[in-house]
Amino acid sequence: MSSPDADPATDAEPVAIIGASGALGFGLAVRFARAGVPVVVGSRDAGRAEEAAGRAREVIPGASCSGAENGEAARSAQVVILSVPFRSHSETLTNLKDVLRPDQLLIDATVPLAAAVSGKATRMLGVWQGSAAQQAAEMAPEGVRVVSALHTVSAASLTDLEHPLEQDVLLCGDKRADKTEAARLIERIDGLRCVDCGRLEMSRITESLTALLIGVNSRYKVHAGIRLTGLADPDWE
Ligand SMILES: NC(=O)c1ccc[n+]([C@@H]2O[C@H](COP(=O)([O-])OP(=O)(O)OC[C@H]3O[C@@H](n4cnc5c(N)ncnc54)[C@H](OP(=O)(O)O)[C@@H]3O)[C@@H](O)[C@H]2O)c1
Repeated sequence: MSSPDADPATDAEPVAIIGASGALGFGLAVRFARAGVPVVVGSRDAGRAEEAAGRAREVIPGASCSGAENGEAARSAQVVILSVPFRSHSETLTNLKDVLRPDQLLIDATVPLAAAVSGKATRMLGVWQGSAAQQAAEMAPEGVRVVSALHTVSAASLTDLEHPLEQDVLLCGDKRADKTEAARLIERIDGLRCVDCGRLEMSRITESLTALLIGVNSRYKVHAGIRLTGLADPDWE
C-alpha cells in the first residue's frame, strides 16, 4: 500500500466510520484521508480504533485521522458511516441509540449476507424490514437521515491505493437532499461516481449485488465493481 498522490490537506467536515478497524471501513478511511476528509475511526474498543487510525496515518502521512470508541466517534461527526457485519448491525444501532442526533446523516454499507449466520457469502438473508438499510432507518433515533451506499465497492480495492476505482456507488434513500449530501462526500474519493438508485426500499436490490459480486470475484479472481452505462455523470448540485 502506498499513497503516490496523497493530499491530506483538510478542508472538509469529518466523517465517522463505525467498524473502521475492519476491512471496508479501513479502506474507506484511507481513501477519505487521502482526499483530505478528516476521519474518525470507530471501534468497540478505543485502543483498536486508535491502532487502525495510526495505520491509516502511516499510509497517508499528515492525514487527519483519529480513533475513538464507536459512541464517541458517532458523536464527533455529522456524517456517520456504518460498516459492520450484519450479525452485529442491530446491536451496533442499539448501542448508538443514545448517541445519534436528529439531522445526522447515517450512510449504511451493511450487507445481510448469509455468511453472518455461517451461511454462504453468495446468499442473502431475509430481513423483515426489507434490507439492512431499512432496518437501520427503523432503529435509528427519530430525525436521523439514513441512506445506503458502498455495498459494491470492495475493501481490497479501496485499501490498495494504487488500484484505480473507476466504478459506481449505488445510492438509495428517501430524500434527494440526503443522497446529495452522501454523494458529495463519497465522490471525494477519486474514481467513485454516485448514482441515485431511488428510495431506501431499493436497497434490498443494491445490497444483494454484493453477494453477486462475491461469486464473480471468486470465479474471476478479481475485485469487481459496478459501472452503469449510458448515464451522464449525475449532477449532485
Ligand atoms: N469487505 C468488503 O469488501 C465489503 C464490501 C462492501 C460491503 N461490505 C459490508 O460492509 C460491512 C463491513 O464489512 P467488513 O468486511 O469490513 O467487515 P469486518 O471486517 O468483518 O468487520 C468490520 C468491523 O465490525 C466490527 N465488528 C465485527 N464483529 C462485530 C460484532 N459481533 N459486534 C460489533 N461489531 C463487530 C469490528 O470492529 P471492532 O471489533 O473494532 O468494533 C470489525 O472491525 C459488512 O456488512 C459487509 O457485508 C463489505
